[in-house]
Amino acid sequence: MTRITLSTGASAWMVTRYTDVFQVISDQARFSSEAAIDGPIPVPMPEGGFPPPRPGFFSTYGPREHGRVRRMLNAEFSARRMREFLPRVETVVDDCLDAIDRLGPPADLVADFALAVPSRLFFELLGIPESDRPGLLSHVDMLLDFTADPQDQAVAFGELDTYMSGFVGECRRRTVPGLVGRLITSHGAELSDSEVAGIAAQLLLAGYATTSGTIALGVLLLLYHPDQAAALRDGSADTDHAVEELLRHLSVVAFGKVFTAAEDTTVGGQKVRAGEYVLCHLPSANRDRDLGPGLDRFDISREPPPHLAFGHGPRHCLGAELARMEIRIGISRLLRRFPGLRLAVPFDELRFTPMNAAYSVESLPVAW
Ligand code: HEM
Repeated sequence: MTRITLSTGASAWMVTRYTDVFQVISDQARFSSEAAIDGPIPVPMPEGGFPPPRPGFFSTYGPREHGRVRRMLNAEFSARRMREFLPRVETVVDDCLDAIDRLGPPADLVADFALAVPSRLFFELLGIPESDRPGLLSHVDMLLDFTADPQDQAVAFGELDTYMSGFVGECRRRTVPGLVGRLITSHGAELSDSEVAGIAAQLLLAGYATTSGTIALGVLLLLYHPDQAAALRDGSADTDHAVEELLRHLSVVAFGKVFTAAEDTTVGGQKVRAGEYVLCHLPSANRDRDLGPGLDRFDISREPPPHLAFGHGPRHCLGAELARMEIRIGISRLLRRFPGLRLAVPFDELRFTPMNAAYSVESLPVAW
């Protein structure tokens, strides 16, 4: 654990060891995440700070309110619901692969696949009409980009909010298929319109860029480990183990929220005072030597060590099962369809996105 200064000038503790990160993210009583949106997050702050936490942004709610919303949403992302959704995932993956095949090389594996598959599936899951999706995609892009102009972000947020409020109104007036419509049918009396709009916006912000980054970087990683790609292609590797290794090794969400210590406490032998900020570095925790040897290496054949790529505890990633399914089906079908897949540009020309809420690569030109 080390002391750092955030770009806002505030000091914080940066926690890097697995056991310590596990302690912080599991303990809602001692580490509050309610400062998540208006706290000193390590990004340029708009003048006057971020707006206060929005209704519906449940990851910033206190434990009781957070639990209330999570209970409404958990069934939507349960393993059973995801099994029902599996045929759609397969169809969308195959559609995108068909389109890539039809157009011929080179293809941009980010736009045409890694982003196309999870975004299309997620919009579908929410019930958002196809014609509205491109505008929303660009707002979400802007909001997840830490280098974007804060004023532009405020505009994007406003437009996302206006759209979601209109969509919620529509779902109140008539039956609209999808998660938002179902949320209103089942819990409409307990939730205000602005809360449902906030929930939908929060889901959209969390729901595809992370999976997209893992697929894009995962494919790149496998291109540099052809023996492991071959094992996935010929079925000799365990695809579930491979997905866990990709999630662990890539850990595309580097930091979760900024936590505030609610009382004096100790983390990794270091005293943390009430009111101090704590950040958890998930990629570092996921390579901790205490979990086993050689975790800097990517190796899909290892017995998966535990990892915190989806966080842990009551705020464990809501979409973990969806993400796992998309990564597993997406990557294994892509490798089988294009056995000769290769980078179409030198590695040095790739541009990565470290200043984004989800680490990825801007584009991934490939040929086959
Ligand atoms: C590879 C893909 C993904 C990764 C690596 C990932 C990672 C994470 C992490 C680390 C957290 C905890 C963040 C924190 O404590 O601040 C989280 C929370 C969350 N994730 Fe994901 N996620 C992924 C995909 C998804 C998908 C597909 C959804 C779609 C629903 C989703 C929805 C959420 C939500 C709503 C939360 C907040 C949960 C809460 O506060 O109760 N994520 N995710």
